[in-house]
Amino acid sequence: MSDELRYDGKVAVITGAGGGLGRSHALLLASRGAKIVVNDLGGSVDGSADGSLGPAGKVVAEIKEAGGEAVADGHSVSTPEGAAGIIRTAIDAFGRVDIVINNAGILRDKSFRNLTPELYDPVIEVHLNGSVWVAQAAWELMREQKYGRIVHTSSAAGIFGNFGQANYGAAKMGIVGLSNVLAVEGAKYNIKSNVLAPGAKTRMTEDLMGTGGGTIDMDPSLVTPIVAYLAHESCSVNGEIYSAASGRISRVFIGVTKGIYEKDLTLESVRDRIEEIRSEETYSVPKSATEEMALIVPHLKAQAKK
Ligand code: NAI
Repeated sequence: MSDELRYDGKVAVITGAGGGLGRSHALLLASRGAKIVVNDLGGSVDGSADGSLGPAGKVVAEIKEAGGEAVADGHSVSTPEGAAGIIRTAIDAFGRVDIVINNAGILRDKSFRNLTPELYDPVIEVHLNGSVWVAQAAWELMREQKYGRIVHTSSAAGIFGNFGQANYGAAKMGIVGLSNVLAVEGAKYNIKSNVLAPGAKTRMTEDLMGTGGGTIDMDPSLVTPIVAYLAHESCSVNGEIYSAASGRISRVFIGVTKGIYEKDLTLESVRDRIEEIRSEETYSVPKSATEEMALIVPHLKAQAKK
């Protein structure tokens, strides 16, 4: 097909790519010509078991068998040193980094009242800190080459809320904040940063979704096309969030309602006008904090004229 999207000459680092969604992303990008660093430290869903290069190595073998190029990397994403090691693997093997897909993750679910530092800290370290440090390790290279595509992995659990996932939800919404800032800072270097909120049957979710052959196809390969698009040179969007599961893709956005303006605002007028403040009838979707601030300028100007 002549209009096929390809990644020839591009190098992609994909974290947590030894299985599940990361493996699926790695296979598609490799099949379209990208050279892949398959990062994964192995280990269990809760991040406690000793890791190994086994899962990453298997995905590398799959890619090579299909005629692609890939190397395995076993560093942990969760420290600056580990993250630097992952990017070093890419430079040593392929000489550059064009794409970072922050995908590595663990779960330690517990209702909020029972949350402990042992359940909270590792989840923040892998998801949020890992996304920060891996992106930062590649950042200078991307700035210098004036090119980069970063795709982070968030979750509906953080964006919309989910029972028993305060640790995970905090990390996953933190990732949205990270991506929004990288989108602003990277814009003039042609670095684009976007977020995926996926749904797929993997070892992480099979308890939730069951192991039986249901009629709904939750294969990770039905999530990967949006990730691959966000990682492609032709990607037209920056600082956005996409929800993808089972072949359905939507954009998630953070909007601000038109609200109300009163020069001498009082507590009682908030009470009296709360539904007007909340109304989603008219809203904006600012691309930055500056754009959001700018929304009050017309009110201030109108006020000044009086
Ligand atoms: P998975 O458990 O198959 O994949 C996660 C991978 O990350 C594992 O292979 C694991 O070994 C690796 N990993 C864990 N800690 C690591 C570390 N410190 N350094 C490097 N690698 C590490 O699960 P799945 O479902 O493929 O998850 C991928 C991402 O998608 C995660 O960030 C997850 O939170 C997110 N997600 C998945 C959903 C789903 O429906 N499967 C829903 C919402 C978000």
